[in-house]
Amino acid sequence: MAPASGRSSSARVPSIVVHGGAGADPLEGRDELRDGVRAAVDAGWHVLASGGAALDAIERAVTVLEDHPRFNAGRGSVLTSAGTVEMDASIMEGDRLECGAVAAVPRIANPISLARKVLDSRGHVLLVGEGALAFARRVGIVECDPEALVTDRQRRRHAAALAQLPGTVGAVALDRHGTVAAATSTGGMSGKLPGRVGDSAVIGAGTYADSSIGGVSCTGDGEAIMRVVLARRTLEYLKDADDPEYAATVAMDLLRDEGRGTGGLIVIDWRGRIAWAHSTPLMPVAWRSPAHPEPVIPF
Ligand code: GLY
Repeated sequence: MAPASGRSSSARVPSIVVHGGAGADPLEGRDELRDGVRAAVDAGWHVLASGGAALDAIERAVTVLEDHPRFNAGRGSVLTSAGTVEMDASIMEGDRLECGAVAAVPRIANPISLARKVLDSRGHVLLVGEGALAFARRVGIVECDPEALVTDRQRRRHAAALAQLPGTVGAVALDRHGTVAAATSTGGMSGKLPGRVGDSAVIGAGTYADSSIGGVSCTGDGEAIMRVVLARRTLEYLKDADDPEYAATVAMDLLRDEGRGTGGLIVIDWRGRIAWAHSTPLMPVAWRSPAHPEPVIPF
C-alpha cells in the first residue's frame, strides 16, 4: 500500500523573508543595504499580496538583489582569481520538490531567472558553464556584456586582493496556497578558482524547500555549507522541534562545529513563521507579512 500523506488545503497567511549575505561589512553603508533588501522584499511581497505564487515572489525578490550593485550576485558579483565573474544560483518549490540550478555561469544578468527556467523545463536540475549558456539561448535569455556585471567596488577589491565572505542573496516565501519556495544567488567567494562551484548552486546545501516543513536559503562559506548540507539539515531540525528560531540557531552550531565555517540563513516554516541566524557580524535581512504594513528590517 502506498504511504499516506497530505496537507490541509486551507488558505495560509503569506510571508516572505530576504537576505543580502552574511559577509556584509557592518562599517560600510548600512543605509544602502537597507534600501536594497527593502526593495527586494517589497517586490516579492507585491507578488504574494496579489495572490501570486511563492516561486514567482522569490524569483522577483532575488532579481532585485542581483540588479543591486552592492550585493554579491548578478551585477556586483565578486571576481575570480582570473578577474572574471562566474555565478551560481538555485531555486526550489516545496510542493513537488521541483528545483533548478545553474553553476559557474558568466554573462547572465539574472542567474536566478536562468535557474527558474531550468526548474520549469522539468528535465535536468543543474546546468553549468557553457552548457547553461546554450540552454539560456534556447529559452530566450540574452547574454549581457561581462563588464556590465563588474562594479568599480569589486574591481578595487580584486586589485587589493581583499578577501570577502560571500554577500550571497536569497529569499524564502510562503504563499496563500501553502506552497513554500526558496532561492539563492551568488557570485561566490572572491578570488575563487575559475570553475569553483559553491553551495548556492547545490540543492540541499544552499537552498531547500518542502511545503510540509518550510524553506531555507543559506549564505557564507560555501565549502562548509556543502559539508553539512545545511539547508536540508535545518529543515530536519525544524521538523523535530517545530520552532524556526531554534532550527536556525542549531544550524549555525552545525555549520561551526561540523562544517568548520561561518555564515547565515533565513527560514520560513509551513505556517509562515520567519527566523534567521548568522555567525558573522552582519547579515542584512528584511521580511513582510500581513501583520506588518511596512517591511521589517531588523539591522
Ligand atoms: N555561499 C556562497 C559561496 O560560497 O559561493
